[in-house]
Amino acid sequence: MTSIAIVFHSGYGHTAKQAEAVRDGAATAGTATLHPIDAEGNLPDGTWEALAAADAIIMGSPTYMGSVFKKFADASSKPWFGQAWKDKVAAGFTNSASINGDKAGTLDYLYHLAMQHGMVWIGTGLMPSNSKAANRNDVNWLGSFSGAMAESPSDSSPDERPVPGDLETARQFGARVAAYAARTRLPAAAE
Ligand SMILES: Cc1cc2nc3c(=O)[nH]c(=O)nc-3n(C[C@H](O)[C@H](O)[C@H](O)COP(=O)(O)O)c2cc1C
Repeated sequence: MTSIAIVFHSGYGHTAKQAEAVRDGAATAGTATLHPIDAEGNLPDGTWEALAAADAIIMGSPTYMGSVFKKFADASSKPWFGQAWKDKVAAGFTNSASINGDKAGTLDYLYHLAMQHGMVWIGTGLMPSNSKAANRNDVNWLGSFSGAMAESPSDSSPDERPVPGDLETARQFGARVAAYAARTRLPAAAE
């Protein structure tokens, strides 16, 4: 069975909703597990083992000025030394308050981390919804190719945002990454 590990941080719960949608999508093509990074940058027990065993690692972070994610990224130098994640599938997602908010900077950060590990980056593969008739509930209304984006206004609760369209974008993104990981899984790893 293809395994997809989703490692993410969420300070206030919005990115966690996005992560759950990514997980639901990924679960259509494998076993998908969530690994939340806490406010101090620490991981739940067993996460490093789950990442080592995963066929795909999907990383998610709110768009912050800095990032709690950094501690995880630095700690990943241990698997990096052994090239343990080389050739695994990688992908990223982010959520921010502003419609733009420099979300691309966060996706670039996740992308470069994956490239440092020698991973294979998968984008959304989703057409942007950018016609005059498009609205916030259309899939990929934020028009992101490199990873999934969502927007949660600063005064919204996680019950209100991300909107269903952003969650559907996350779901389709997760499904794509998992399907790609299942298709390209090395025979040696197959049961
Ligand atoms: C320290 C900090 C920095 C932030 N920087 C940005 C930013 O650069 N751009 C933006 O659009 N939103 C920014 N935000 C807003 C968050 O991205 C937004 O509130 C997001 O929904 C938080 O996700 P979470 O609920 O998963 O923590 C920032 C929030 C915090 C707390």
